[in-house]
Amino acid sequence: MFGLHKKLPEDLFHDATDVHCHLLPGVDDGFPTLEKSLHALKKLEEHGVKRMVLTPHFMKDYPLNDRASITEKFEAYRAEAAKVCGIELRLGAEYMLDARFMTHFEQGFLTLDKAGKHVLCETSYLMYEPNISQMLYDIMCSDFQPVIAHPERYEYAVKDNYFRWRDKQYEFQLNLLSLGGAYGRPAYVKSHYLLKEGMYDYVGSDMHGLDNFRRFLPNIHLGKKELANLEQLIENNKKLFG
Ligand SMILES: [Fe+2]
Repeated sequence: MFGLHKKLPEDLFHDATDVHCHLLPGVDDGFPTLEKSLHALKKLEEHGVKRMVLTPHFMKDYPLNDRASITEKFEAYRAEAAKVCGIELRLGAEYMLDARFMTHFEQGFLTLDKAGKHVLCETSYLMYEPNISQMLYDIMCSDFQPVIAHPERYEYAVKDNYFRWRDKQYEFQLNLLSLGGAYGRPAYVKSHYLLKEGMYDYVGSDMHGLDNFRRFLPNIHLGKKELANLEQLIENNKKLFG
Protein backbone atom coordinates (compact mmCIF):
# COMPACT_ATOMS: atom_id res chain seq x y z
CA MET A 1 0.00 0.00 0.00
CA PHE A 2 2.78 2.44 0.87
CA GLY A 3 5.21 1.42 -1.90
CA LEU A 4 8.63 2.79 -1.06
CA HIS A 5 7.34 4.56 2.02
CA LYS A 6 8.70 3.19 5.28
CA LYS A 7 7.71 3.20 8.94
CA LEU A 8 9.48 5.64 11.25
CA PRO A 9 12.92 4.43 12.41
CA GLU A 10 12.88 3.10 15.97
CA ASP A 11 15.60 5.50 17.10
CA LEU A 12 13.93 8.61 15.66
CA PHE A 13 13.24 10.06 19.11
CA HIS A 14 16.69 9.41 20.49
CA ASP A 15 17.81 12.71 22.08
CA ALA A 16 14.61 14.36 20.80
CA THR A 17 12.98 17.62 21.83
CA ASP A 18 9.21 18.17 21.79
CA VAL A 19 8.11 21.77 21.31
CA HIS A 20 4.34 21.38 21.67
CA CYS A 21 2.46 19.28 24.21
CA HIS A 22 -0.30 19.45 26.80
CA LEU A 23 1.34 17.55 29.63
CA LEU A 24 0.78 20.22 32.27
CA PRO A 25 -2.07 18.50 34.11
CA GLY A 26 -5.51 19.90 34.82
CA VAL A 27 -5.18 23.22 33.00
CA ASP A 28 -6.75 22.56 29.60
CA ASP A 29 -7.96 19.65 27.47
CA GLY A 30 -4.64 17.85 27.94
CA PHE A 31 -3.65 15.42 30.69
CA PRO A 32 -6.27 15.46 33.45
CA THR A 33 -4.08 14.31 36.36
CA LEU A 34 -0.50 14.54 37.59
CA GLU A 35 -0.30 10.75 37.74
CA LYS A 36 -1.25 10.28 34.07
CA SER A 37 1.06 13.06 32.97
CA LEU A 38 4.06 11.66 34.85
CA HIS A 39 3.34 8.21 33.42
CA ALA A 40 3.48 9.67 29.90
CA LEU A 41 6.66 11.55 30.71
CA LYS A 42 8.36 8.32 31.79
CA LYS A 43 7.22 6.58 28.59
CA LEU A 44 8.58 9.42 26.48
CA GLU A 45 11.90 9.22 28.28
CA GLU A 46 12.05 5.47 27.55
CA HIS A 47 11.73 6.37 23.84
CA GLY A 48 14.66 8.76 24.06
CA VAL A 49 12.97 12.15 24.50
CA LYS A 50 15.29 14.51 26.40
CA ARG A 51 13.62 17.92 26.35
CA MET A 52 10.03 19.16 26.28
CA VAL A 53 8.33 22.50 26.06
CA LEU A 54 4.95 22.37 27.79
CA THR A 55 2.48 24.51 25.87
CA PRO A 56 -0.89 24.82 27.65
CA HIS A 57 -3.71 26.60 25.82
CA PHE A 58 -4.06 30.31 26.32
CA MET A 59 -7.43 31.15 24.80
CA LYS A 60 -10.82 32.57 25.70
CA ASP A 61 -12.14 29.04 26.37
CA TYR A 62 -9.67 28.81 29.31
CA PRO A 63 -10.01 32.25 30.93
CA LEU A 64 -8.20 31.18 34.10
CA ASN A 65 -4.99 30.42 32.23
CA ASP A 66 -2.75 33.42 32.56
CA ARG A 67 1.00 33.75 32.78
CA ALA A 68 1.23 33.97 36.56
CA SER A 69 -1.08 31.05 37.43
CA ILE A 70 0.33 28.73 34.77
CA THR A 71 3.90 29.53 35.77
CA GLU A 72 3.12 28.61 39.37
CA LYS A 73 1.54 25.30 38.28
CA PHE A 74 4.47 24.56 36.00
CA GLU A 75 7.04 25.05 38.79
CA ALA A 76 5.11 22.63 41.02
CA TYR A 77 4.87 20.13 38.15
CA ARG A 78 8.57 20.41 37.32
CA ALA A 79 9.46 19.57 40.91
CA GLU A 80 7.30 16.41 40.75
CA ALA A 81 8.64 15.45 37.31
CA ALA A 82 12.24 15.70 38.52
CA LYS A 83 11.49 12.91 41.02
CA VAL A 84 10.61 10.42 38.27
CA CYS A 85 12.56 11.37 35.14
CA GLY A 86 15.42 13.39 33.73
CA ILE A 87 13.61 15.13 30.86
CA GLU A 88 14.42 18.84 30.80
CA LEU A 89 11.23 20.87 30.89
CA ARG A 90 10.40 24.40 29.83
CA LEU A 91 7.14 26.30 30.03
CA GLY A 92 5.83 27.75 26.78
CA ALA A 93 2.26 28.31 25.67
CA GLU A 94 -0.03 27.82 22.69
CA TYR A 95 -1.76 31.14 22.04
CA MET A 96 -5.06 31.19 20.19
CA LEU A 97 -5.34 34.27 18.00
CA ASP A 98 -8.66 35.29 19.55
CA ALA A 99 -10.26 38.05 21.62
CA ARG A 100 -7.99 37.36 24.62
CA PHE A 101 -4.79 37.39 22.65
CA MET A 102 -3.89 41.03 23.35
CA THR A 103 -4.22 40.41 27.10
CA HIS A 104 -1.64 37.63 26.87
CA PHE A 105 0.55 39.82 24.68
CA GLU A 106 0.54 42.52 27.40
CA GLN A 107 1.33 39.97 30.15
CA GLY A 108 4.44 38.87 28.23
CA PHE A 109 4.66 35.78 26.09
CA LEU A 110 5.79 32.38 27.28
CA THR A 111 8.01 31.34 24.42
CA LEU A 112 9.36 28.10 23.00
CA ASP A 113 12.99 29.20 23.15
CA LYS A 114 15.30 30.36 25.91
CA ALA A 115 15.92 33.68 24.16
CA GLY A 116 12.21 34.52 24.46
CA LYS A 117 11.46 35.06 20.77
CA HIS A 118 9.39 32.19 19.39
CA VAL A 119 5.65 32.41 20.07
CA LEU A 120 3.48 29.39 19.29
CA CYS A 121 0.16 30.55 17.79
CA GLU A 122 -2.94 28.75 16.60
CA THR A 123 -6.11 29.88 14.86
CA SER A 124 -9.62 28.51 14.70
CA TYR A 125 -9.70 25.23 12.76
CA LEU A 126 -12.84 26.08 10.90
CA MET A 127 -12.82 29.71 9.99
CA TYR A 128 -10.33 32.24 8.76
CA GLU A 129 -10.71 35.30 10.98
CA PRO A 130 -9.50 38.37 9.06
CA ASN A 131 -7.87 39.90 12.16
CA ILE A 132 -5.39 37.02 12.56
CA SER A 133 -3.23 38.61 9.85
CA GLN A 134 -2.97 41.78 11.92
CA MET A 135 -2.17 39.82 15.10
CA LEU A 136 0.60 37.84 13.41
CA TYR A 137 1.97 41.04 11.92
CA ASP A 138 1.92 42.75 15.34
CA ILE A 139 3.84 39.84 16.87
CA MET A 140 6.48 40.08 14.16
CA CYS A 141 6.73 43.87 14.47
CA SER A 142 7.27 43.51 18.22
CA ASP A 143 10.42 41.52 17.50
CA PHE A 144 8.90 38.11 18.20
CA GLN A 145 8.88 35.17 15.80
CA PRO A 146 5.42 33.70 15.20
CA VAL A 147 5.39 29.90 14.95
CA ILE A 148 2.09 28.71 13.48
CA ALA A 149 1.02 25.51 15.20
CA HIS A 150 -0.15 22.63 12.98
CA PRO A 151 -0.96 24.65 9.82
CA GLU A 152 -2.11 21.41 8.19
CA ARG A 153 -5.09 21.24 10.55
CA TYR A 154 -6.80 24.47 9.48
CA GLU A 155 -9.70 23.52 7.28
CA TYR A 156 -9.84 26.92 5.58
CA ALA A 157 -6.14 26.86 4.64
CA VAL A 158 -5.14 26.22 1.04
CA LYS A 159 -1.76 26.49 -0.64
CA ASP A 160 -2.18 30.25 -1.05
CA ASN A 161 -2.45 30.72 2.75
CA TYR A 162 0.68 28.68 3.31
CA PHE A 163 2.73 30.56 0.74
CA ARG A 164 1.57 33.95 2.04
CA TRP A 165 2.50 32.99 5.61
CA ARG A 166 5.88 31.71 4.51
CA ASP A 167 6.45 34.93 2.50
CA LYS A 168 5.93 36.85 5.73
CA GLN A 169 8.54 34.58 7.37
CA TYR A 170 6.17 32.98 9.86
CA GLU A 171 7.44 29.57 10.93
CA PHE A 172 5.43 26.33 10.80
CA GLN A 173 5.18 23.53 13.36
CA LEU A 174 4.04 20.11 12.16
CA ASN A 175 1.90 17.90 14.38
CA LEU A 176 3.63 14.54 14.02
CA LEU A 177 0.42 12.51 14.14
CA SER A 178 -1.09 14.45 11.23
CA LEU A 179 1.20 12.26 9.10
CA GLY A 180 -0.57 9.18 10.47
CA GLY A 181 -4.09 10.44 9.86
CA ALA A 182 -4.97 11.40 13.45
CA TYR A 183 -6.80 14.55 12.35
CA GLY A 184 -8.51 13.21 9.25
CA ARG A 185 -7.76 12.97 5.56
CA PRO A 186 -7.34 16.69 4.67
CA ALA A 187 -4.75 17.24 7.45
CA TYR A 188 -3.02 14.00 6.43
CA VAL A 189 -2.71 15.13 2.80
CA LYS A 190 -1.62 18.67 3.68
CA SER A 191 0.96 17.48 6.22
CA HIS A 192 2.63 15.17 3.72
CA TYR A 193 2.63 17.92 1.09
CA LEU A 194 4.12 20.55 3.43
CA LEU A 195 6.73 18.13 4.77
CA LYS A 196 7.83 17.01 1.33
CA GLU A 197 8.07 20.62 0.16
CA GLY A 198 10.25 21.51 3.15
CA MET A 199 7.81 24.11 4.46
CA TYR A 200 7.91 23.12 8.14
CA ASP A 201 10.41 24.40 10.70
CA TYR A 202 9.62 22.28 13.77
CA VAL A 203 7.70 19.18 14.77
CA GLY A 204 5.61 18.70 17.90
CA SER A 205 3.59 15.92 19.44
CA ASP A 206 0.68 18.20 20.53
CA MET A 207 0.17 15.35 22.97
CA HIS A 208 -3.09 15.45 24.94
CA GLY A 209 -2.90 11.78 25.97
CA LEU A 210 -1.05 8.59 25.09
CA ASP A 211 -3.87 6.81 23.28
CA ASN A 212 -3.60 8.78 20.05
CA PHE A 213 0.11 8.06 19.95
CA ARG A 214 -0.35 4.33 20.35
CA ARG A 215 -3.00 4.36 17.65
CA PHE A 216 -1.58 6.67 14.97
CA LEU A 217 2.22 6.59 15.29
CA PRO A 218 2.47 3.13 13.65
CA ASN A 219 0.38 4.49 10.73
CA ILE A 220 3.09 6.94 9.69
CA HIS A 221 4.93 5.92 6.54
CA LEU A 222 7.34 8.31 4.89
CA GLY A 223 9.31 8.49 1.67
CA LYS A 224 13.03 9.18 1.75
CA LYS A 225 12.73 12.96 1.27
CA GLU A 226 9.98 13.26 3.88
CA LEU A 227 12.02 11.33 6.43
CA ALA A 228 15.11 13.46 5.78
CA ASN A 229 13.00 16.60 6.23
CA LEU A 230 11.44 15.23 9.43
CA GLU A 231 14.89 14.47 10.84
CA GLN A 232 15.86 18.06 10.08
CA LEU A 233 12.81 19.30 12.04
CA ILE A 234 13.87 17.23 15.04
CA GLU A 235 17.30 18.87 14.79
CA ASN A 236 15.67 22.30 14.51
CA ASN A 237 13.66 21.55 17.69
CA LYS A 238 16.86 20.89 19.57
CA LYS A 239 18.44 24.15 18.41
CA LEU A 240 15.26 26.05 19.27
CA PHE A 241 15.29 24.66 22.81
CA GLY A 242 18.90 25.84 23.14
FE1 LIG B 1 -1.84 22.09 21.11
